[in-house]
Formats: sequence, structure tokens, C-alpha cells
Amino acid sequence: MRMTGNTIFITGGGSGIGQGLAEAFHKLGNQVIISGRRKERLQQTLDANPGMVAIELDITDPDSIQAAAKTLIADYPDLNVLINNAGVMMLDHADKPVDDALALSTVTTNLLGPIRMTSALIEHLKAKPDAVIVNVSSVLGFVPMAVTAVYSATKAALHSYTLSQRYLLRGHGIQLVEIAPPWVRTELLDSSEEERAIPLDQFIAGTMEQFESGVDEILVSPAEAMRANPGPNEHAWVNQFNDMIANGPAFG
Ligand SMILES: NC(=O)c1ccc[n+]([C@@H]2O[C@H](COP(=O)([O-])OP(=O)(O)OC[C@H]3O[C@@H](n4cnc5c(N)ncnc54)[C@H](OP(=O)(O)O)[C@@H]3O)[C@@H](O)[C@H]2O)c1
Repeated sequence: MRMTGNTIFITGGGSGIGQGLAEAFHKLGNQVIISGRRKERLQQTLDANPGMVAIELDITDPDSIQAAAKTLIADYPDLNVLINNAGVMMLDHADKPVDDALALSTVTTNLLGPIRMTSALIEHLKAKPDAVIVNVSSVLGFVPMAVTAVYSATKAALHSYTLSQRYLLRGHGIQLVEIAPPWVRTELLDSSEEERAIPLDQFIAGTMEQFESGVDEILVSPAEAMRANPGPNEHAWVNQFNDMIANGPAFG
């Protein structure tokens, strides 16, 4: 994708990967608009990055998505890049009766969120040169982590949805990029100090290099191997990976 001169909307942006991407694109001379629910976290990011702007968004609320899209189109008519980054990750118990609130919140945020946000902006983006839609999935969409089964399933679904969008939008000049991060040190699942995860700055640097290279799937090491796993023998690695998780430090 073009690395400068874009107008970029990022869901999330007050923390973690969204904040890292927002700052990296801001430094390259793009107009970046971040969003989220926690006003103070958005403000901290704005204070550190003069010229960046923020809007409030609750991606689980269809009215909030519509209001955000209306504001974006009215106030930032050059908007040409949407980064669907907001997500939540919770431990669940796929071997027990489901916690309906947890399942609903995870699916509404991680899957319906990007579907609805893209839908609200799609006709606008079709009219823009150099338009890009970025969906942040996860390596866990390819090798599920059993203790976060709903989360892993939403990321597999987002991968599938991205493939459909890429096919359908190929004649409209919109590039569909999927970022499937490996484990990265962020607040997600309380992983800021997690030794098994890669540092956030290392992940952002690798991601920006791959954005520049123009690939459709951004896979920062060690994501490539997990991405390559699905196939008729995928259970060997699913079992090995989940044994490693089960035998490691407890979460939470
Ligand atoms: N860290 C990893 O290891 C990893 C690996 C693979 C994929 N990912 C994906 O990367 C993305 C970013 O996660 P992260 O690691 O950077 O974690 P994070 O720091 O917790 O960031 C998640 C962001 O999503 C926003 N968000 C959550 N619910 C929202 C809602 N209802 N409405 C609007 N915004 C909402 C949060 O902002 P507010 O709370 O202020 O709303 C927050 O800024 C997620 O999609 C995650 O699944 C992360």
C-alpha cells in the first residue's frame, strides 16, 4: 500500500497494536484517526502525537458504528484506509456450558464489528483511489488456542470473510490486507509482560515493512508457521500447541 498521504481510520488506537500502527503511520505523514471507548487512553495517544485525531466508538453498537462512519465521511472525506483492529480476548470453556454473555460480546466485537464497520464505509471507499481495508485476525484463527475457543473461532471467521471480500472487491481497486499477528506483548489477555510473546515495537516494525511490500497477508515471525498449519493433519500441531499452553504459566 501507499505508505504516506493516506487518511487512515483505526478501530482501537488507545492501546496495543492499534496504537502502534497509528503512531507508525502518523510518523510517515498520514492523517490518522483513532477510536475506542476509553476516552482517556485515546487522549494520551493524541497528546503524544500532535495532529492525530480521535472519535469515540463502541464497535459492539451498530448505532455507534453508523455515527462514526457519518462523522468520518463528513469530516475526513479523503478517508481511504480502514484498519479493523479492535478486539477482545477472554478465557472460555468450550468443554462446559457456554457463558452466553462472553460468547456474544466476543463475536459482536471481533467478527460483527469489522463486518459492520466495513459495511458502513464500503461505498465511500469504493470511490477512493488507493483504498485499503485491513482486518486484524490472529494466528489463533489457524491454530486455535483451546482455552480461548470463541476468540479463536472469531479470528478464523474473520480470515474467511476477508477472503470473500478480497475476491468481491478485486474489481473496485480496494486492497484487502489481513494481519495475522503472532503473540504480541499488549494488554490483550494480560500479555504486556509475557515472555512467550514478541515485543510490540518489533511486531509493528515488521508489519510496516510488509505493508510497504504490498503483500495481502501480513505475517510477522513466528506467525508464518502457524498460518501454514491448516490441512488434513492440522490436529498434530493443534494438540502440540495446546499441550504447550496447558503446561505453561496459568493465565489471569
Ligand atoms: N496481542 C496479541 O497477541 C494479538 C495476537 C493476535 C491478534 N491480536 C489482535 O490485535 C487486535 C488488537 O489487540 P491488542 O493486542 O492491541 O490488544 P489491546 O491493547 O487490548 O487493544 C484492543 C483495542 O480494541 C479496542 N476495543 C475493544 N473493544 C472495543 C469496542 N467495543 N469498541 C471499540 N474499541 C474496542 C480497545 O479500546 P477500548 O477498550 O478503549 O474500547 C483497544 O484499544 C485485536 O483484534 C486482537 O485480537 C492480538
